[in-house]
Formats: sequence, structure tokens, C-alpha cells
Amino acid sequence: MTSDTNLSPQDALKKAVAQAAVDYTLSKIDDTSIVGIGTGSTANFFIDLLAEHKAKVAGTVASSEASADRLKQHGIPVYDLNAVDEVTIYVDGADETNSHLELIKGGGAALTREKITAAVAKEFLCIADGSKWVDNLGGFPLPVEVIPMARSHVARELAKLGGDPVYREGVITDNGNVIIDVHHLHPISPVRELEEKINNITGVVTNGLFALRPADALMLGTEGGVKTIYPKN
Ligand code: 5RP
Repeated sequence: MTSDTNLSPQDALKKAVAQAAVDYTLSKIDDTSIVGIGTGSTANFFIDLLAEHKAKVAGTVASSEASADRLKQHGIPVYDLNAVDEVTIYVDGADETNSHLELIKGGGAALTREKITAAVAKEFLCIADGSKWVDNLGGFPLPVEVIPMARSHVARELAKLGGDPVYREGVITDNGNVIIDVHHLHPISPVRELEEKINNITGVVTNGLFALRPADALMLGTEGGVKTIYPKN
């Protein structure tokens, strides 16, 4: 659980955006709404702050087992995505965002369930501290979730695209797969094209570029306060 004491400056920004996102989420939901919950430290602040209003939250779907466990510890109902008709709003962090609100995600290895939840959600709100804002994506190594038997094949194909693939040792995703992080792709352009190309490699489950379905809005934590940003055309 989070406390205001001993928060690093970066965590204080994460908590500030999480609080703004809770306020926004409460304004968008009614007593039948399902809230999509992301994964990571910023999403954890969101979960803990949302729990203070849990009587107003009919249900959630979670993008990882870790987030589902945290929600359940707070007594917030968690549903299987297949059991709900609609996700009103999905709130999640990011490893990088550009001004189009195209993202890199998957630092926490939850990218596939995150991408599925974002695809279903009517609205995708990204929450991030200011360090995640970049002119061009690709400084953060791009996570790719891969079927284990295809690991070497996919790594060779990723190298052909100009990146340096690095197997994330010791990590198995919630879906039973492995992660390859692709270094040295910066600057990624055009982003959607690379997202499609990597998804078309046989053995790839998905990659951490969120450009075909970018965020609809971003709450960015800065020294000057929380800024709400909409995608640049
Ligand atoms: C997990 C993610 C996270 O959203 C991303 O890694 C950001 O995490 P944090 O909020 O801890 O900075 O994509 O797979």
C-alpha cells in the first residue's frame, strides 16, 4: 500500500497522476461500469487510491495477475474479460509516450493483456510521470512477447529489423510466454508500421508498441502539476 512518507519525487508524480485518474474515473462510471486496470507501479497507486472509493466501483478487469491480486486484496471485484460486455475506461501506465499518445509498454511483461484490455475499452487513459514523455519512441527497449519455442527465430527476425534483441532471463508472462527486449530501435518511425511488422513475425504474440490503438488521453505528472494531454493530429 502507498503512503506519502518516503515517496521519491518520481513516485510522488505517479501518485499525483493516479489521484487525478481516480477523480476522472469516478466522474465517468455508474453502478454498472467495469473499469480496466493496468499493471505497474503507477497502476498500483491508482488501485490503492481507487480502493478508497470501492463502493462506487461495480467491477474491474485486470491486465495482469499481479493487479488482479492487489484489487482482490482491497475487496474490489475482478471479472474475467470474457464475462463483461464492455469496459468503460482503462487506466494504465507506460514506459514511453510521444505526443500522438503512441506508447511503449511492457516493462512489467504484461503487454499482451494490456493491449487486449485497451482494445476492448471505450476510453484508454494513460497515466505517467514526466520522465516517460519523449519526442521519439525507442529509447526504452521494446518488449516483445514470444511463444517459447519461437524465441530464436523471432530474435533473428527482430535483428533483421535493425534492433538488438535481448532475452529477458527468468521472466515468464501470465500467458506462459517469454519476453525479448529489442534495444537500439530509436527513433521508431513510422510507429504503426513497426508495430504491424513485428506482430507479423511468426511466434510473436504481440509487441509493446501501442500505436494502432494509442491512448485517448494522457495524465502526465510534472513539477508544475498534472497535465491532461490529448493526441496531437
Ligand atoms: C507493464 C507496463 C507498465 O505500464 C509500464 O512498465 C510502466 O510501469 P510503471 O508505472 O511502473 O513505470 O507496461 O507491462
